[in-house]
Amino acid sequence: MDRIKIFDTTLRDGEQSPGCSMNMKEKLEVAKCLEKLNVDVIEAGFAISGPQDFKSVQEISKVVKNAQVASLSRALTKDIDVAWDAVKDAVAPRIHTFIATSPLHMQYKLRMTPEQVLEQTKEMVAYAAKYCSNVEFSAEDATRSDLDFLTRITEVAIAAGATVINLPDTVGYTSPAEMEHLIRYVIEHAKGAEKAEFSVHCHNDLGMAVANSLAGVQGGARQIECTINGLGERAGNTSMEEVVMAIRTRADLYEVETGIDTKQIYNASRTVYNIIGQPAPLNKPIVGKNAFAHESGIHQHGVLANKKTYEIMTPEIVGIHTDNLVLGKHSGRHAFKKRADDLGYHLTDEEVNRCFGEFQLVADKKKTVTDADLEAIISHHVSIDHLMSEEGYKLDWFSVHTSNFTTATCTIHLKKGDEEFEEVKLGDGPIDAAFNAIDAIINPKEHVFNTYQIASTSEGQDTLGAVTVKLSCDRRTYTGRGLSTDIIESSIMAYLQALNRLMAEEA
Ligand code: KIV
Ligand code: ZN
Repeated sequence: MDRIKIFDTTLRDGEQSPGCSMNMKEKLEVAKCLEKLNVDVIEAGFAISGPQDFKSVQEISKVVKNAQVASLSRALTKDIDVAWDAVKDAVAPRIHTFIATSPLHMQYKLRMTPEQVLEQTKEMVAYAAKYCSNVEFSAEDATRSDLDFLTRITEVAIAAGATVINLPDTVGYTSPAEMEHLIRYVIEHAKGAEKAEFSVHCHNDLGMAVANSLAGVQGGARQIECTINGLGERAGNTSMEEVVMAIRTRADLYEVETGIDTKQIYNASRTVYNIIGQPAPLNKPIVGKNAFAHESGIHQHGVLANKKTYEIMTPEIVGIHTDNLVLGKHSGRHAFKKRADDLGYHLTDEEVNRCFGEFQLVADKKKTVTDADLEAIISHHVSIDHLMSEEGYKLDWFSVHTSNFTTATCTIHLKKGDEEFEEVKLGDGPIDAAFNAIDAIINPKEHVFNTYQIASTSEGQDTLGAVTVKLSCDRRTYTGRGLSTDIIESSIMAYLQALNRLMAEEA
């Protein structure tokens, strides 16, 4: 079977979507997941778009050992210089350069004639190829471009040294039949096509990104560009978990395979959702809570008789554990570590120390600690907490008084290094009062309060409450999270984390 390369652009197209910005530590955490997944190419960012973007592409290039690392660049010398500077230390660097090819984009965005676009492509691909033998060329808005122009530009790019030709559905406009035809047409008509690999990059505006990518494969594409959880501009990009599992589940139909270790999918998805501070939609294919749940009596009956009646893939294949073992207050460190191992978290001794104390606190308050609680504790204290700044304000204690006939009051005591602070404030409910008291202490710089979300980690009244707060300032998002059986405490922790990040200016 032909091997399809998976080009992950979570850290570039995914990260540039609203509310999904990540700081460098978070990007490195995602890059680690991508390596575990065994993706072929990691698009680490758009190096010229700012110093933080440059630094993250550079760091990712230095640490990633098992995947190619790419930076995006417009077809401009200054972009290509910076992209190369950022990726040159990678084991396998790639420069990804693009220019728009649709009449609309050429006329109104670039203000260039088709001939000028061809010339620019020739010069810039050749310029990139002097730095690097691995050059990808993308014809932006390919699906609204003239097919013969696409064929010409593909020939020009290949002759100038491009090794990968990407034909994106930039605005999520095409259909599977059109995409298959487009890829097949260009491969059949462009001179030199056999020297390059063809790639698809689809957006999900009409909900067809995965279907269009698979159709591109049927037309001859051998690279799919996608993102974890389908993050990306507007309605997102092709979702990696969906496209990979479609190829695996329907290998009989597509007759291709990927190198993805599918058992890592759930973990990677959860890490990314945690970082951007969003829960997976319940019905999200592959990774949503309901993706493997059978509710109706007829379905349950069928699954009990034979799982294959209603299950086209097993949860285990994507790394979801269904043997929901429960731990309790008598479970020791060894049982805790063993269960974490079973769930796919291979914790170091230091990480076990960090989580076990919290586990004991939770086990004391709750009768049972489920896998979902355990995952929330681990992702909070390992994947999330260490991504947050160690500095900043910490909660020491708080006290609230509230009722439905008086104004809520909160007294809050914070610590920052050796300093201690205390404030009392009123509010419209205990959380508002707590946030007002925090504001009075910190006096944060001006920001917009975008999101307050609370979710339970498991079923039952004694569940942990996981709170996410998102603030924004200067078009960057600052996320904070808190986890506790007490939702006022988790709210305070989440707000403090978001404010600490805002004050440290590390989005
Ligand atoms: O959607 C798009 O066209 C892109 C290109 C820059 C590859 O993201
Ligand atoms: Zn895109």
